[in-house]
Amino acid sequence: MGMITIQAPAKINLTLVVRGKRADGYHALESVMQMITLADRLELEDADALQFTCSDPALETADNLVVRAATMLRRHYGITRGVRLHLEKNIPAQAGLGGGSSDAAATLLALNEFWQLRCPLDEMRGFAAALGSDVPFFLDGPSALVQGRGETVTPIPHQANCHLVLAKPSAGLSTAEVYARLYARPAPDHLPAHPLPATQAMIDALRHGDPATAARALINTLESPALAMLPALSMLHERMLQQGCLGVLLCGSGSAMFGICPDAATAAHAAIDLRNDCPWTAQAEFLPA
Ligand code: C5P
Repeated sequence: MGMITIQAPAKINLTLVVRGKRADGYHALESVMQMITLADRLELEDADALQFTCSDPALETADNLVVRAATMLRRHYGITRGVRLHLEKNIPAQAGLGGGSSDAAATLLALNEFWQLRCPLDEMRGFAAALGSDVPFFLDGPSALVQGRGETVTPIPHQANCHLVLAKPSAGLSTAEVYARLYARPAPDHLPAHPLPATQAMIDALRHGDPATAARALINTLESPALAMLPALSMLHERMLQQGCLGVLLCGSGSAMFGICPDAATAAHAAIDLRNDCPWTAQAEFLPA
């Protein structure tokens, strides 16, 4: 096979409710996750060995999730061929946008084709969950209810689109550190599968398709520990509301924030204006189904 290219989209969590801390140290979650039009690009080319390059040299390491995903498949299937993987980064790291997780899922999906592995989806989900809690979502999408540690993914069919503005302060946040700041009660062994009222409100808003209703249903349990760690986020939140966002929320464990805008022009204008406060801003939309 010559060369193939695959997009690895970012995600936002339209809701993220921590339901408790599990015995294994992870947190039981319930989240409505949504892929967006911001994306990294992964290129694959035939090679004798496993090679990895990245547009951001700081991410060009052996423990990059792209390399770990490729190594996992190669070992499992006893593949002797190599591959040259090049990652073009657009999604900032330590932002809560799932960039690394999406790159990992894209690697699994692309190599399954490239090496003609015919890996069953169940097995693929197992590889994904072993690479990171957010990785299984990226095998599905573009919109899903995510539960458990992140491995239970139920697609949400909807036609809603929202214009978004994204902004990240220069400081990033570590997911593990934000979770460590959160006080969470022990999670019960069995949580009901039906969504919480707050989650259901977002699912209903998406099915209805109205951005203002979706903006009112935004919720993220990790926002308060993240704000405590990075007070600049409160000001950013305020600025985004002043720029005309209908609702603003921390992306995952941060440190990026997203705002739902009434239209594309508001999002574009806000993305430019916020550049005065933030080194990275972007305009995006929901990734269509
Ligand atoms: O699974 P992953 O390695 O991406 O998770 C990074 C960190 O985030 C974990 O080490 C854990 O501290 C925290 N985490 C959690 N509960 C989850 C997902 C992640 O506590 N459901």
